[in-house]
Amino acid sequence: MCGITGYIGYKNADKVLFDCLKRLEYRGYDSCGIALVQSDGIKVIKDTCRVKELEAKHKKVNSKIGIGHTRWATCGEPTAANAHPHSSCGDKVAVVHNGTLDQFIPLKEDLINKGHVFKSETDTEIIPHLIEENMKTMSADDAVKKALGTIQGAFAVAAIVQNENKLYVGKVGCPLVIGVGDSECYVASDSSALSKYTNRFIYLKDHDTAVLTPDSIKLFRNGKETEPEIELLDKNLNDAELHGYPHFMLKEIHEEPRVITTTIDDLDDLATLLATIDKDLGGIRMIKTLACGSSYYASLMMRYLAPQILGIPTFAELGSEYCSLTKGQKGTLAIAISQSGETADTIKAAKAAKANGYKLMAITNVKNSQLARAADYVWTTKAGPEVSVAATKTVLSQIAALYSLILAHPSLSKLNKEDAMDTFRKLPDQINKIFENVDSIISVASYLADFKDAIYIARGLNYPIALEGALKLKEISYIHGEGYAAGELKHGPFALLGKEVPVIAIVSHDENYDSLVTNLREVKTRQAPLIAISEENDLTISNLADYVITVPHTKPILSPILNLVVVQLLAYYTAVKKGNPVDFPRNLAKTVTVE
Ligand code: AGP
Repeated sequence: MCGITGYIGYKNADKVLFDCLKRLEYRGYDSCGIALVQSDGIKVIKDTCRVKELEAKHKKVNSKIGIGHTRWATCGEPTAANAHPHSSCGDKVAVVHNGTLDQFIPLKEDLINKGHVFKSETDTEIIPHLIEENMKTMSADDAVKKALGTIQGAFAVAAIVQNENKLYVGKVGCPLVIGVGDSECYVASDSSALSKYTNRFIYLKDHDTAVLTPDSIKLFRNGKETEPEIELLDKNLNDAELHGYPHFMLKEIHEEPRVITTTIDDLDDLATLLATIDKDLGGIRMIKTLACGSSYYASLMMRYLAPQILGIPTFAELGSEYCSLTKGQKGTLAIAISQSGETADTIKAAKAAKANGYKLMAITNVKNSQLARAADYVWTTKAGPEVSVAATKTVLSQIAALYSLILAHPSLSKLNKEDAMDTFRKLPDQINKIFENVDSIISVASYLADFKDAIYIARGLNYPIALEGALKLKEISYIHGEGYAAGELKHGPFALLGKEVPVIAIVSHDENYDSLVTNLREVKTRQAPLIAISEENDLTISNLADYVITVPHTKPILSPILNLVVVQLLAYYTAVKKGNPVDFPRNLAKTVTVE
């Protein structure tokens, strides 16, 4: 959580920093700030507001070096004093930090005993004071390096020092990337925040520190100066602009047809990776998935698909609840799924599984993420950067990747594969059809916006989509939504049903259809308003439901993908109707780097 940025070069640093911070706000947005090196010292401005409000208050400053931060409070409440940057006495050193420091209290007490005065409740504030203390006996370069070697915990840090035309950075356990320009360098928590400025990036590894000037990058790995490796990123895959859409969430949903096409294009590469895994494991005999939030709901798909189609027993575990009690046996594969690849709970579970003898595959949207680096095998979903806090296209990309794993598995017959591929290839057009018929979703959203609670139900493969639909509803429309396996309703949740609690049913036209219709009749008998997401021309459903949102016909096994798009749009338009801040819902951050 928290986004950090930095700039050194020939442009006005304040303008660049505000621009980058706006792209990093998805990482936290309870307060923000920037610090700029000026001829007469370091100027810090910060407040408990959004970046554009801070920018409006700020009077332009002629400075070419600065750092910036957007916060999701962990240590210390969201107040102006706790907002970053934090500075040392007399503002000689300023620091921005993403992460949490362990055992900082003794260090803080030691600094207080040495005469340092603290202004905030944060762990971060010890860093500028440590640097300043070190500078009493050494150069600024060494002082920063020593301070970053002293602190413990997870951090990505950028620092500036008065009278030094340099930008200092370092990291352990949190992401940090340097963007390389011509006579300028940028720093950010992720590369997409810098996509407008450069496509050349240096991804820092844990324990790396670097000293940046406009024309040089000195990288230290394990204390030794090392030649930095510059990676070129495809601009299209790093694009984080709105391109005329009112919200990133809508833009990202509209990218979903492209995500399916990209997944199909990569199928041969995935088959090659799977063949390697299969060979290394002597055949996959058991799968354990590890993930959190929407990624967990995506992972639930594998629990249905792999046993049904491949006969491989599969267990889906929440990263935050994983008890690593069982040892991995020969042939067991752990698949950790995370769009950011930085979710602390998922990484912890993945590392525990690995330590217990599981081979670890990561499915992530961020190639150089911590999760990717911890894994034996990595599959990168090419959904492109996702800015909206509510995950949409990345969830679809994870589900598409899991379908692809099934399709790529050598045990699937050629005939079955070709048949499934034909259906898969139709999905992008069918999703576009859902976009064309969005009016019915908008009108149901207007109706839904007046309720306080809603229940999603489904059976079988669409059950994970019911859970995801309810999460999306909570997350951005602030309606209390619950997802249930339809058969479970009568085991308790029935007590809630009535005119005030609408039920949204995802209808699967498969072997579960008849039982689901029975469940819908039971719902209607309790007078709950019924909204159905169903295929066109289903008279039984249109007679039963108060509202029907239709989806194009596909093979039942692939219906979760189309239904996913509908539940995402329904949550989006409900939130819009309520006037909520769709992309930045209250109390949330996109990347959850704390347990
Ligand atoms: C989804 O809309 C949420 N923002 C959240 O549940 C998210 O899926 C979860 O935090 C996991 O994130 P990850 O995929 O980056 O690991």
